[in-house]
Amino acid sequence: MSASPKPVKKVPIHLQSAQNRVYIKNGQIVNHDKTFPADVYIEDGIIKFVGPASEINIPGGVRVVDASGKLILPGGVDPHTHFQMKFDGAVTVDDFYHGTKAAIAGGTTTIIDFVLPEKGESLVEAYDRYRSWADPKVCCDYGFHIGLTWWSKSVSDEMKIMCEELGINSFKMYMAYKGICQLNDTEMLDALERIRSLGALAQVHAENGDIIAKNVKKLLAAGVCGPEGHELSRQEEVEAEAVNRACILAHQMDCPLYVVHCMSKSAGIELARARRRYSNRQMIYGETLAAGLGTDGTRCQHVCFHDAAAHVMSPPLRPDPSTPEFLMLLLANDDLQVTGSDNCTFSREDKAKGKNDFSKIPNGINGVEDRMSVVWEKGVHAGLLDPCRFVAVTSTNAAKIFNLYPQKGRIAVGSDADVVIWNPQATRTISKDTHHQKCDFNIFEGMVCHGVPEMVLVRGRICVEDDKVRVAEGFGRFLNTPVRSPYVYDILEGKKTVNEEQNNGGDHEEQHENLNGSMKKMNMTALEIEIPYQEVVLAGTGGPQTGSIGSTPSGRGHVSGSRNMQESTFSISEELDTAGNRSCIKVRNPPGGKSSGFW
Ligand code: URP
Ligand code: ZN
Repeated sequence: MSASPKPVKKVPIHLQSAQNRVYIKNGQIVNHDKTFPADVYIEDGIIKFVGPASEINIPGGVRVVDASGKLILPGGVDPHTHFQMKFDGAVTVDDFYHGTKAAIAGGTTTIIDFVLPEKGESLVEAYDRYRSWADPKVCCDYGFHIGLTWWSKSVSDEMKIMCEELGINSFKMYMAYKGICQLNDTEMLDALERIRSLGALAQVHAENGDIIAKNVKKLLAAGVCGPEGHELSRQEEVEAEAVNRACILAHQMDCPLYVVHCMSKSAGIELARARRRYSNRQMIYGETLAAGLGTDGTRCQHVCFHDAAAHVMSPPLRPDPSTPEFLMLLLANDDLQVTGSDNCTFSREDKAKGKNDFSKIPNGINGVEDRMSVVWEKGVHAGLLDPCRFVAVTSTNAAKIFNLYPQKGRIAVGSDADVVIWNPQATRTISKDTHHQKCDFNIFEGMVCHGVPEMVLVRGRICVEDDKVRVAEGFGRFLNTPVRSPYVYDILEGKKTVNEEQNNGGDHEEQHENLNGSMKKMNMTALEIEIPYQEVVLAGTGGPQTGSIGSTPSGRGHVSGSRNMQESTFSISEELDTAGNRSCIKVRNPPGGKSSGFW
């Protein structure tokens, strides 16, 4: 494996550490920026060694795992779950135990959930309540975002306590759910200003709640009461308008913004445009969901109410069946950066509360268990992502944005031993009958997924092995997420350029970089090039790039059975034309070749 002629200093193994010592040999490491063959040694929950076997002495008493033919991935980071979430008298059935167990079963080893205070409730009290629910139950490490479900001076004051004392660095605002938790523009501007002053990150649920409220009334009055009414009340432009407005409001307050669950082509295009419009000065991030990549809104028209209601979420799954691939291509091109699950599972009985009125169906779908498999199947297996980009959009980018990197999101010396041994050749079929979630429905039912997490380690503890999931309730730890994530703020404040970022972070094992000699640094990013507002460079005629910045040159990481990426005929310009949103956007490649973002 190593052609290095220099004498090798072998890494000693400490015999006193008898527990949790695992040696994974013969695997192929996949990080977001490179892939290379190496062995991994884990002790006391931490990765202690990454490199060739010739550089380490293995004593007896260590669990040795042969990963020949398999990939070694950093555990997934799902930054969007709602375990044990209350909504209008209902509570999501996946609590912090079942939810994190299911996450681990699917290869996700870190989740970030949302503290959602009641209207008028103190943020600190709500936070304490959620901690008391989560701490005894979580099977993997977890963090929290705080929902700004109402706005006042006391909320603003408590945000400082959240950031300075309670390990929070992100706050979510709702532009939808009028009369429940929607903030108006004035409140959002105040909140964004506050978030910026704290060095935190703003998140936004982007849908225009005022339009939705009007449409719901109209549809119900016209007798449209079934689940199909849900999407009709909040169509693509309702999401796209809010995305655009949120980006402008954030820009005005100079506040970094993370748009959760981008679910439509139109919204994705608005995000892509905003990221280019503001160049280095304003960092905007976009998340989509496993649901949006793995299924579509045609299921909301299902004749069976329960089937249709199980797919009701906001923003909705779109009826246009080409949406999932479009969203995947936005991920491939770095127009979107993160895939979450928004796991928010209500029982069949609770969904049935909306039997005669779609607006009363509790919103939410599953996804925490299947997120990794769905992204692999629809992304890597379909030939639209390479394995490095897969790691970026399912793990590393979220870890960076929420300031958990490189503790999470990387296979490297010093990182937490959250490790997935991924078999790209194996398949599994998703089903509610075999999943580990508590919900009685699975929106991906019957999907055959290539790529199986055959072994999952959570901080060095083997939790998935031989098709068995053995987790420990309460094993997970709360993760403090410090403010001023360098991947957000250093670039925002001009301390670092986009290209410098590529070389930074997680370099504590860089002695093994380029073992396969295939790593290439991109020289130019779209963000560095002056691009006129309307001339958005989104994609060339040759289809999406292999991976993204700091990611992979074409051909590397090809997984057998995958489609050749160059076969794609993707063109956002065409989508813009047919969607009728922008007719003047030109597609072109920047000098030096097309690139995307800075991950
Ligand atoms: O439908 C959804 N997304 N339910 C979860 C709550 C939210 O809006 O994120
Ligand atoms: Zn959500």
